[in-house]
Amino acid sequence: MECEKEYDITVTGIDTSSYTTSCIYTKELTMTTSKHPLIWGHRGASGHAPENTLPAFQLAADMGADGVELDIQLTKDGVIVVCHDETIDRTSSGAGWLKDFTFDELRRLDFSNGNAAYEGVQIPTMEEVFDLLAPTGLTINIELKTGIIFYDRIEEKILELAKTKYRADRIIYSSFNHYSVCKIKKLDPSAKVGLLYGDGPVDMPGYGNRLCADALHPAYYNLRYPNYMEDCRKYGLDVNVWTVNSTEELMTCRQYGVNAIITNYPAKAIKLYES
Ligand code: G3P
Ligand code: CA
Repeated sequence: MECEKEYDITVTGIDTSSYTTSCIYTKELTMTTSKHPLIWGHRGASGHAPENTLPAFQLAADMGADGVELDIQLTKDGVIVVCHDETIDRTSSGAGWLKDFTFDELRRLDFSNGNAAYEGVQIPTMEEVFDLLAPTGLTINIELKTGIIFYDRIEEKILELAKTKYRADRIIYSSFNHYSVCKIKKLDPSAKVGLLYGDGPVDMPGYGNRLCADALHPAYYNLRYPNYMEDCRKYGLDVNVWTVNSTEELMTCRQYGVNAIITNYPAKAIKLYES
């Protein structure tokens, strides 16, 4: 599908200047043709191992998942680490804003998140995740956590790292901050990007097409909106749905023909879809 748009984006707080992004490229239609959606482990196999840790990603791979979803942020000294919350209170033995810790300080903390079987597990760098998963061929959905903190040049940094570490066709970038998504696309028009969102805006497929996105990443309940899947197909937008854990939701996603489901329980999804 041909997608040609010129649009201005003032990225106050993300960039020190305004910029014009020109998005002219041909979308690859990557809608799945398999009989069930692709299965991506949400923060790894986070229903079984501490979220966003190397064991959680390894477990998702071992279970036979097609990919993993994860969240990236920057430490005080600029290292790309994998962690969901902007504060480390919930998932680690420490407390405070992640951005205020150096990488070495974070590495001294326990990120087992109350799971005794994984006591002492550390926060991973994005580079370590790339190294772990490169031999597997799994897709990585990299969510940029730029909603509350506008991490300086995180878009440039992740693209630079990914370039040397992972197959480009196995990465899709996403964010609730659509300025971040557009910035990724502007920096690398060949990068696959998805727009994350929760409560349902009107005509997200049209919006996604206008922003030259490759995919929409809706919360599950958005699937029910009028003509949603039809419109996504019309615009060549993949639909990658989160967070799909229950049997009923998994079945519904298969019926709708979504491209991928993002789940805490990849093994459950695989068993259900292959039964
Ligand atoms: O990327 C899907 C999902 O992870 C988005 O929500 O809050 O779990 O990052 P959240
Ligand atoms: Ca996420």
